[in-house]
Amino acid sequence: MALRLRDFENLEKYKVNVENFPTTTSDEQAAVESNVERLFLSLGKKCALDRNLPKLLRNEHEKFLRQSLAYLSAGYTVIDASRTWMCYWILHALSLLEVQLSDTQLNSVVKFIEKCKHPGGGFGGGPGQLGHLATTYAAVNALCTIGTKVAYDTIDRNKLEEFLWSVRTPEGAFIMHRDGEVDIRGVYCALAVAHLTNIASSKLFEGTAEWIISCQTYEGGFAGAPGLEAHGGYTFCGIAALVLLDKAHLCDVKSLLRWVVNKQMKYEGGFQGRTNKLVDGCYSFWQAGIFPIISRILKDDNQEPDDLLFNRGALQEYILICCQYFDGGLIDKPGQYRDAYHTCYTLSGLSISQHTFTHEVYVLGSASNKLERTNPVFNICNHAVRKAILYFSDEQKVIEVKEIVENT
Ligand code: FPP
Ligand code: ZN
Repeated sequence: MALRLRDFENLEKYKVNVENFPTTTSDEQAAVESNVERLFLSLGKKCALDRNLPKLLRNEHEKFLRQSLAYLSAGYTVIDASRTWMCYWILHALSLLEVQLSDTQLNSVVKFIEKCKHPGGGFGGGPGQLGHLATTYAAVNALCTIGTKVAYDTIDRNKLEEFLWSVRTPEGAFIMHRDGEVDIRGVYCALAVAHLTNIASSKLFEGTAEWIISCQTYEGGFAGAPGLEAHGGYTFCGIAALVLLDKAHLCDVKSLLRWVVNKQMKYEGGFQGRTNKLVDGCYSFWQAGIFPIISRILKDDNQEPDDLLFNRGALQEYILICCQYFDGGLIDKPGQYRDAYHTCYTLSGLSISQHTFTHEVYVLGSASNKLERTNPVFNICNHAVRKAILYFSDEQKVIEVKEIVENT
């Protein structure tokens, strides 16, 4: 289904109202709105003349992602502890764009991730680095996105389980790494990798749901740990983790929905991460990804809404008009520089906003803007989730499935 652009000339009423009392926060908000307005008005005029606009710059994004996989400039040394993340961000973004890498390229990524394995189980962010839940999640997601036998077999499930036990706290929360801090991201990462590789057990996650619930704040979103501020990144982790535990009914779904609905910016169309902060392209996934999860929870309770409960068209406008770097890669907001993280999460959000459970697809601009469907709980493509779960549930089965696919 084609989506129509909003009437950009008529959005003035959605801009920040400073109420004669400008503050640093309202000044920053007004500055973002003015950058966005420039793009909306100039592109809006072009779009009115050409139904194929706005256009997803597929070839440019592919080029940027391929380049980033092969070579990174010296500036990237600061993310030396996030190299498995780089693999995931790049591979997942390419899979959303339906770009297939060669076997040689995929095998060299697998070999690199193999080097990041920690003897104590899990993966570090780079070779020789400490096992960490976030970089383990990134490594497992990258390997499942590759989806070959050699990729799956890079995961030592016994050692991974040992690692998860070593970072579990007595109450059922998880620290990010040995001697590290407790954080709701850790809980989500532990659950996601345990489910994909079929090592989850009720013992490993005993008390975990109750700990997650204690992170839901008075605003309705979830914080990184009890007593802190609700934030989109942590809220996604909290609700996705509860779904994996099949315990989402324990949280206050209504107040979560109220909170996340209000994080979509009225003027920009993208999402902010927390109250009174600025729009950022990466929340297109962290926040918008919460909606299909909520719909699923409501469906289980026979209250499924007709649609995703956020403005899909407005989010697609923000991503396609404000977040595309002209030479490939996507960004946080106008004026910022491209990077693999924002490319991955803006494209993931675009995918979320395009797809429905009923397989109806909502696409703003050219039909060629349509992306592969991402799974909102794991954020790897649906087919990759299915294949990994099948592989780790019974290795023989996946060989049979592969044979059927190859022979038909
Ligand atoms: C705030 O940054 C950012 C955070 C407090 C954490 C964000 C958390 C995630 C993105 C989730 C990570 C998930 C996994 C699976 C590891 P800020 O203050 O710079 O941004 P803001 O102004 O937008 O709040
Ligand atoms: Zn961001």
